[in-house]
Amino acid sequence: MSRKNIAAGNWKMNKNYEEGLALARSLSEKSVASDALMILSTPFIHLKAVGDIIKGQPHMRLAAQNCHQKAAGAYTGETSLDMLKSVGVTHVILGHSERREYFHESNELLAEKVNAVLDSGLTPIFCCGERLDIREANTHVAYVANQIKESLFHLSTADFGKIIIAYEPIWAIGTGVTASPAQAQEMHREIRQMISEKYDGETADNCSILYGGSVKPANAIELFGQPDVDGGLVGGASLKADDFCAIYDAFGKTNV
Ligand code: 13P
Repeated sequence: MSRKNIAAGNWKMNKNYEEGLALARSLSEKSVASDALMILSTPFIHLKAVGDIIKGQPHMRLAAQNCHQKAAGAYTGETSLDMLKSVGVTHVILGHSERREYFHESNELLAEKVNAVLDSGLTPIFCCGERLDIREANTHVAYVANQIKESLFHLSTADFGKIIIAYEPIWAIGTGVTASPAQAQEMHREIRQMISEKYDGETADNCSILYGGSVKPANAIELFGQPDVDGGLVGGASLKADDFCAIYDAFGKTNV
């Protein structure tokens, strides 16, 4: 899979059913398709209906915010990849910092989930990123490298080529504090370098690496204009159709 520009909206646990469908309808009507992908990552109960709304839109895709690693069985409250596939999901966010923190998802568990998503033919959007204390200690590159190594570096070159990575520094999520374009670029370049060293330059070049953490219409053009930033994983600003469309449109304005 070659590198793509992507604006992915992570709705997290927001919007009731009617509100979610209204947002999806609005995005479907307002967004003007380009080569970039717009991915909607909705709560589970919205997935089927949102999938029906965006069907036929060449630039729009549907993502789950999590999945279970087992194929089926006695796992009360969980959702399988087969279920997700059956309603048109194409991408699955894995390892969001909120899942790591509140649901204790470890690098090892995430490696299992990555395998399961790839086995099912869907695309993982693998999240990584450091806490503020780690950045302040200047150990953020090694920390993120370890997350990637422990959850992804067991993959074959062919399988690694199917992964999307989202770098989301925890200190920038929902805080209004965005990583500066230079901070985002630095980490994205480091991640690409790690991939190049583990696999090869072509695999590194082809990997889409998204930035997440207080992406807004006002900062998207500058962030997406960084050479190693291929788009954004957007929380709060993905809940407003006009804002998310403006973020999606930023790709046409970066001159990269
Ligand atoms: P915000 O855009 O609200 O900071 O959230 C980022 C995020 O966590 C996306 O997954």
